[in-house]
Amino acid sequence: KYARGYFMPPAQSLKWTQKEYISEAPIWCSVDLRDGNQALIVPMNLEEKLEYFKLLVAIGFKEIEVGFPAASETEFTFLRTLIEQNLIPDDVTIQVLTQSREHIIRKTFESLRGAKKAVVHLYNSTSVAQREQVFRKSKEEIIDIALTGAKLLKECAEETEGNFQFQYSPESFSGTEVEFALEICNAVLDVWQPTAANPVIINLPATVSMSMPHVYASQIEYMSDNMKHRENVIISLHPHNDRGTGVADAELGMLAGAQRVEGTLFGNGERTGNVDIVTLALNMYSHGVNPNLNLENIPYIISVYERLTKMRVSERHPYGGELVFTAFSGSHQDAIAKGMKWREEKEPKHWSVPYLLIDPKDIGREYEGDIIRINSQSGKGGIGYILQQKYGLDLPAKMREHFGYCVKNVSDHQQKELAPDEIYDIFAKEYVNIK
Ligand code: KIV
Ligand code: ZN
Repeated sequence: KYARGYFMPPAQSLKWTQKEYISEAPIWCSVDLRDGNQALIVPMNLEEKLEYFKLLVAIGFKEIEVGFPAASETEFTFLRTLIEQNLIPDDVTIQVLTQSREHIIRKTFESLRGAKKAVVHLYNSTSVAQREQVFRKSKEEIIDIALTGAKLLKECAEETEGNFQFQYSPESFSGTEVEFALEICNAVLDVWQPTAANPVIINLPATVSMSMPHVYASQIEYMSDNMKHRENVIISLHPHNDRGTGVADAELGMLAGAQRVEGTLFGNGERTGNVDIVTLALNMYSHGVNPNLNLENIPYIISVYERLTKMRVSERHPYGGELVFTAFSGSHQDAIAKGMKWREEKEPKHWSVPYLLIDPKDIGREYEGDIIRINSQSGKGGIGYILQQKYGLDLPAKMREHFGYCVKNVSDHQQKELAPDEIYDIFAKEYVNIK
């Protein structure tokens, strides 16, 4: 009644300890323009997709899934525009999604005419629920769908000019018995025969996340340990966020041996979204690992993202949210103010200011106001910090305490947050006018 049930890998592989920490960035693949776009109330139009593509390129994505070109006119035209107007930088590889159906595969290759290179991403659904309820097919029939598509992809790639890399996703992998997922992936790999020069991507989606992150990681580890042609296979993660654990799934999946991650900016995507690449990348950054993405101007990225998707980045969103580098409470403000001062004096190598995971400046956020904001919960430390930073007023300890109460009182009575200018006005009224 309560549980859908989830699929555990065989017990011996429940270790996911191939690595103890993430020491380098994975290959990132943005699926904003496909998985993200298909989940929007109003999908982006051609101009919006073009602008979003440029944003992704500017951030530094080297692999971008641009759509499902056989699925709609806009998707097809978007891809043709990218190719015909030569908008794909040489160091960026586009990726296109296709179902394992002949006319769709043929149309996909038609849409790719003139592309110098591309990843062609084939998928079919493999979970118990999909096999039984949607397709009503046996395991053998599901393998047959994958292999028919894999063979046709190979044929079409041989007939079409350009360099094509193949990707296979057993869609709904998270609801598939791992032994069966391995069997179907190995069968596809036998058809494609990956080489070092042209490795195959095996993408293992938590299409619906169903288990705790360590279970997904164990499934990934089982696949990684037992996959044929492993040295010429790139294992890719594609977590969704149904359980709110997309980021944890990806982090543990990387520890378990995955080399690539598909996700979106701020976690846009079907239902609760795809894994949020911004959070994942900045989590890495907070550990001193270069994420190989340029996230130095998060406010700009958010403004473009919100305008084009008509979605909102919530105030509490890790790193990007408006309130995440803000402290209202007195003790937090005091600690931050002291931490900043200590930092100025000691010039330590690493960022360690209390309550702030990273230096907001590193992602284009402001210190003043952005970090310390004043309301009735605030304390003398934060209020003093604002006066000092913004107006050069360094109050003696007793005065700081008194002034702290004055400001909190005003905010309490007016039931609102106070801007630095209002704080200065209170200061002027309280002390300067008296004089
Ligand atoms: O979530 C999913 O399984 C997908 C596949 C098409 C990779 O988006
Ligand atoms: Zn997806």
